[in-house]
Formats: sequence, structure tokens, C-alpha cells
Amino acid sequence: MKHIVMITGAGKGIGRAIALDFAKASRNIPEFEPLLVLVSRTLSDLESLASECTNLGTETVIHEADIAMTTQMDRIVAGTVERFGRIDCLVNNAGVGRFKDLGEFTMEDMHYTMSTNVKGTFFLTQSVFEIMRRQRSGHLFFITSVAAEKPFRSSALYCMSKFAQKGLVEVIRLHARECNVRVTNVMPGAVHTPMWGDVPDDMRRIMMLPEDISGPVVNTYLLPARTVTEELVFRPAGGDINE
Ligand SMILES: NC(=O)c1ccc[n+]([C@@H]2O[C@H](COP(=O)([O-])OP(=O)(O)OC[C@H]3O[C@@H](n4cnc5c(N)ncnc54)[C@H](OP(=O)(O)O)[C@@H]3O)[C@@H](O)[C@H]2O)c1
Repeated sequence: MKHIVMITGAGKGIGRAIALDFAKASRNIPEFEPLLVLVSRTLSDLESLASECTNLGTETVIHEADIAMTTQMDRIVAGTVERFGRIDCLVNNAGVGRFKDLGEFTMEDMHYTMSTNVKGTFFLTQSVFEIMRRQRSGHLFFITSVAAEKPFRSSALYCMSKFAQKGLVEVIRLHARECNVRVTNVMPGAVHTPMWGDVPDDMRRIMMLPEDISGPVVNTYLLPARTVTEELVFRPAGGDINE
């Protein structure tokens, strides 16, 4: 039976690495056959990722979509269930951040951050969790951040949104434990991805890479269904940067 795995923000960075590691796992474990439902807002990213996955022998479905557009996401979820009958895994990875002094944040920054990180993540999780509850199986991953429990000076809105995601993780876990659904909160520190834009060489050298996060995420999914790793925390070996 194929494992239907939906990954948001799959086009770049950590989400892309998770998709590729799912595809690679299927090569190493013959009985593991994922089908990847890949979501992000840039079609060309999704097309190139889908072609890499196909080369690794993994089937994909791509959706150019914004998780903040909840009716669009409801259609994607319904279409996935109609076509494949189930959703086994949701990786809530899509996320955005703007980093500045406290006094510089605008209403538009607030809307930009919260509509993806809070509103989009909540309503997608709500709709997929209902399916998993009915199936009595499934695995929800949330790629939150160390900023979900620790303050960073220039990250007021990002920290708010990530603390909010952690709140959702902890509430949904109460429900998930009653219906055999696994929940994993993934909290990385600084990972070198397009989210950071250009970074100086000395900083880049100490940052983690997306594959440092994606391998453990896929291994967590592959644990026996009786076991869940509830939290994964990753930091650069020298500790957090940009505090
Ligand atoms: N990099 C880090 O240091 C770090 C550390 C801790 C946690 N995280 C978290 O890890 C997750 C991934 O971050 P990343 O560093 O890989 O970021 P990234 O390189 O900017 O990639 C984010 C991906 O999400 C997509 N995306 C963003 N908003 C979206 C939306 N509303 N709907 C659909 N897709 C959307 C982006 O593509 P489009 O713009 O084309 O849609 C892109 O494919 C985020 O939740 C982030 O907060 C990152």
C-alpha cells in the first residue's frame, strides 16, 4: 500500500529536502512506497522537484497553492482523499519570516506572517486531522523552530507565530493520542535555506543544512506505528546564532 505523504512548502529548503529523503528512503526500503503530494506557491520549483523524485522512482502530485488560501487547500485535501482514499502523513513545513527591530514591524508584516504560519497551518491541520481521525492512523509533522520556545530579538512576529504553532501541536496531540495519530514537533535552529537570503560566509559555515533535518524526519516517520518521536530539536553545534 502506498503511503500518501503531503508536504507543504516543498519547493525549497527544508521541505524540498524532506521530499527527496522520502523518495530516497523508498529506494533503500523496497516495501516502502511513498506517493508525495507536494504543495508550494512556485510551480517551477515543484516541477523540478517532481522530476528529481521521479528519477528516484517515486510518484508525485504537485499543487501550486498558497496554504493561506483555505478553500484552495480544502479542495486539494478533498481531491487527494478522493483520488487515493487516505492521507498518511502531513508535513506542515510551509512558513515565512521577516526579521527586524521591534518598532519597524507593520500591519502588513503581521498579516504576511500570521496568514501562512498560523492561519494556513491551523486550517490545513484541522482538515487533514479529521481524515486521520476517521482512518485511525496518520502522522502530523510540524516544522516549527527553536523560536517556538525561545525569544530572538529581531523575530517578534516570527516567534509569535512559532509559539502559536507549538500551542497547536500540543492541543492536537491531546486529540491525536485518542485516535492512533502520531504528532512530531520539529524544532530546528538556523538552517541554511533561501529563507535567509544572502548570508555572510562566516555565518553560512556554522549553519545546519536542510538534509540535517530531513533525514531524521523521514526516519521518525518510518518508526513502528506503535512509537512516536514527539520532539526533534536541532541546533548548530556551537549553539544558536543571531540571538
Ligand atoms: N531555515 C531555518 O533556519 C529554519 C529554522 C527553523 C525553522 N524553520 C522553518 O522551516 C520551514 C521551512 O523553512 P525554510 O528555511 O526551508 O524556508 P524556505 O527556504 O523559504 O522555503 C519555504 C518553502 O515554503 C513555501 N511557502 C512559503 N509560504 C507558503 C505558503 N503560504 N503556501 C505554500 N507554500 C509556501 C516556499 O515557496 P513559495 O514561496 O514558492 O511558496 C518554499 O518552498 C518554515 O516553517 C520555517 O519557519 C526554518
